[in-house]
Amino acid sequence: MAKKLFLSLLALIFLPSLLLSQSVEFLHAGFKDAGTTVTLNGAAEIDDSGIVKLTNDTQKLLGHAFQSNAILFKNSTTGKVFSFSTAFAFSIVPQFNSVNLGGHGMAFAISPTKELKGALSRQYLGLVNSNDNGNSSNHFLAVEFDTVQDFEFKDLNDNHVGIDINSVISSASIPAGYFADGNSTILDLNLKSGSIIQAWIDYDSSKNQLNVTLSLSSSKPNSSILSLDVDLSPIFEDYMYVGFSASTGLLAASHYVFGWSFKINGQAQSLDLPSLPKLPLPQKSHVKLILGTSISAVAFMGFAVLLSLYIVRRIKNMDVIEDWEHSVGPHRFPYKELKQATRGFRDKELLGFGGFGRVYKGTLPNSNTQVAVKRINHESKQGLREFVSEIASIGRLRHRNLVQLLGWCRRRGDLLLVYDFMPNGSLDKYLFDEPEMILTWEQRFKIIKGVASGLLYLHEGWEQTVIHRDIKAGNVLLDSEMNGRLGDFGLAKLYEHGSNPSTTRVVGTLGYLAPELTKTGKPTTSSDVFAFGAFLLEVVCGRRPIEPKALPEELVLVDWVWDRWKKGAILEAVDPRLGGLYDEVEAVVVLKLGLMCSSNSSERRPSMRQVVRYMEGEVVLPDFAAAPNEYNAKKGGGHGGEFEDFVHSYPTSSFDKVSAWSSADYVADKDDLEAGSISPLSVTGWKGKR
Ligand SMILES: *[C@@H]1O[C@H](CO)[C@@H](O)[C@H](O)[C@H]1NC(C)=O
Ligand SMILES: *[C@@H]1O[C@H](CO)[C@@H](O)[C@H](O)[C@H]1NC(C)=O
Ligand SMILES: *[C@@H]1O[C@H](CO)[C@@H](O)[C@H](O)[C@H]1NC(C)=O
Ligand SMILES: *[C@@H]1O[C@H](CO)[C@@H](O)[C@H](O)[C@H]1NC(C)=O
Ligand SMILES: *[C@@H]1O[C@H](CO)[C@@H](O)[C@H](O)[C@H]1NC(C)=O
Ligand SMILES: *[C@@H]1O[C@H](CO)[C@@H](O)[C@H](O)[C@H]1NC(C)=O
Repeated sequence: MAKKLFLSLLALIFLPSLLLSQSVEFLHAGFKDAGTTVTLNGAAEIDDSGIVKLTNDTQKLLGHAFQSNAILFKNSTTGKVFSFSTAFAFSIVPQFNSVNLGGHGMAFAISPTKELKGALSRQYLGLVNSNDNGNSSNHFLAVEFDTVQDFEFKDLNDNHVGIDINSVISSASIPAGYFADGNSTILDLNLKSGSIIQAWIDYDSSKNQLNVTLSLSSSKPNSSILSLDVDLSPIFEDYMYVGFSASTGLLAASHYVFGWSFKINGQAQSLDLPSLPKLPLPQKSHVKLILGTSISAVAFMGFAVLLSLYIVRRIKNMDVIEDWEHSVGPHRFPYKELKQATRGFRDKELLGFGGFGRVYKGTLPNSNTQVAVKRINHESKQGLREFVSEIASIGRLRHRNLVQLLGWCRRRGDLLLVYDFMPNGSLDKYLFDEPEMILTWEQRFKIIKGVASGLLYLHEGWEQTVIHRDIKAGNVLLDSEMNGRLGDFGLAKLYEHGSNPSTTRVVGTLGYLAPELTKTGKPTTSSDVFAFGAFLLEVVCGRRPIEPKALPEELVLVDWVWDRWKKGAILEAVDPRLGGLYDEVEAVVVLKLGLMCSSNSSERRPSMRQVVRYMEGEVVLPDFAAAPNEYNAKKGGGHGGEFEDFVHSYPTSSFDKVSAWSSADYVADKDDLEAGSISPLSVTGWKGKR
């Protein structure tokens, strides 16, 4: 009897632990000796000092680092998920760390695979893609450390922790914070400060509760900052992988993991931060800015070289005229004539190139008129055909502030558009980077008024509304009298067509893309007005909407101008190269208009008709008191202004220097935009730092 009792006591004591002995536990105090126990993919690597670097400063990367072996997470008889616990030390070092712009974030993930096939970078954090986000067949749990606010994913700010189940729309989230020793108030924690942060994630399977705890030290605070009641049993599969995922978007950050411990059915060991490998001392942020800029410039040049190789190959194809082409309105030039005009598209005749294609100078053989020939390559014949049918209407647009389309020609995948030649090239080369000639205020004001009237004509003066979609100084050309003329109108549509809707692209240039455009992808006259606002500011200030080389507080032009305005010193924003020689009343009107047009809320922006009226002095500008980004903050309400500090621009870098015609157009794929995902555009938060 006693023996029996003893045996069952033994069983009671040892059985659970025997069964638990199947449980898993590991500790990486640095990853130097991790060997094959950790599987990396994407951009992830383990550096010489043993730090997992999930991504570097390069745009649109994703990186995964997972423990190589699958782990049994479920009791196979009951189907119940075990308790588990993990602790890890990480840090996020943004590319633009002086202004605290993150991109995009990282996550601890428990997933049925360690590859997460099909997952995307950017706001998808390397966890999902736009199709499978939220699908219950994903079977994953992630705890995200997100440094960009994505409105479509209902992010609460650009510095938050969220619990994600099958979706990057968090089931629970909170601004990053931590409890310090003996203090019951939650303290703010900046995820992208570059500091080493320790995180603990604990799941209690008896309570069905998941907790997230953060700290800047080695010891675990008594309270967690985020807790979610959830039974993970229906979500997990029996065997799962644990690891990390991170991604970058148009803004980038390096995401590091220094150490990691994990345990099933027990408390994971906290990490001793001082004993973990350390990052080399950070570089000066300015060096990084310039480095980043030149890297993207190099990347762009590489792309341009590939593009031109491709074009050269295409030139060898034949000129075939199909039936449908005969019905198109404006003059169809024979290919031979254009080839002759541009001397065989010689590089010497190249005026510039951008996302749409190369532009050559030419002289038409019969009439001796000078023309600009834009050569566009388009992969989709279908899209090209639909576009050509629109050339008929584009060709009929006539206005002294538009660059006139004279005719066109198609040759296989190449489309050649023939325009009036603009001897003075594009406006941007008179504004940015040490221009050879400084435009006077009178010239600038005339150009601004001209472009406003050209844009008004596109919006309202024609039988159908034409949306330009890519207003910027680089697309404003100067005729022999230094009148501003809008070029490239209607061209963006070329990229909108296409038989496959999922390949639809939204075209525009970063820094000029209205915030709503990044969500809906639908260009409107109001998104043109937004870009026009950026254009106004760049012409008056002589600076790009985003100037990566500027001081941090001057990075985003509209914010900087707004700042001057608030300080009652708006004229300080005027291009100093004017040497004070300008009409103050006109300058104030244009700067104020620039701010009004840059409003984040499309309803708040004036129409082009109103803009022209203000500029002509027909109507007096309202004394507005709202920052371009304040409207939504008020409207958002509740959450301390969900849209607060929404900055809508992004470094375009200086890669459009090459162009005398049209600068580097940024062509984003729909993926990028439909979900608001040029979310660097929705970069937030650094305003508060001032
Ligand atoms: C960043 O990572 C990518 C992908 O691994 C790599 O191609 C690139 O060279 C890296 N860039 C830098 C600056 O290390
Ligand atoms: C699974 O659950 C059953 C019933 O609660 C229990 O007896 C058994 O020990 C559990 N198995 C493991 C591996 O924990
Ligand atoms: C979820 O994913 C499964 C498998 O990939 C697929 O069959 C299903 O259609 C998806 N459901 C939704 C709503 O997209
Ligand atoms: C946790 O609570 C204990 C006792 O309540 C206290 O001594 C300790 O300092 C607390 N630790 C932290 C990190 O707050
Ligand atoms: C908790 O921290 C806050 C902010 O640092 C400080 O103001 C407050 O006095 C602290 N409270 C206690 C009890 O230490
Ligand atoms: C989660 O946190 C709450 C409050 O801090 C605590 O009562 C609970 O035990 C924690 N649960 C787990 C699974 O750690």
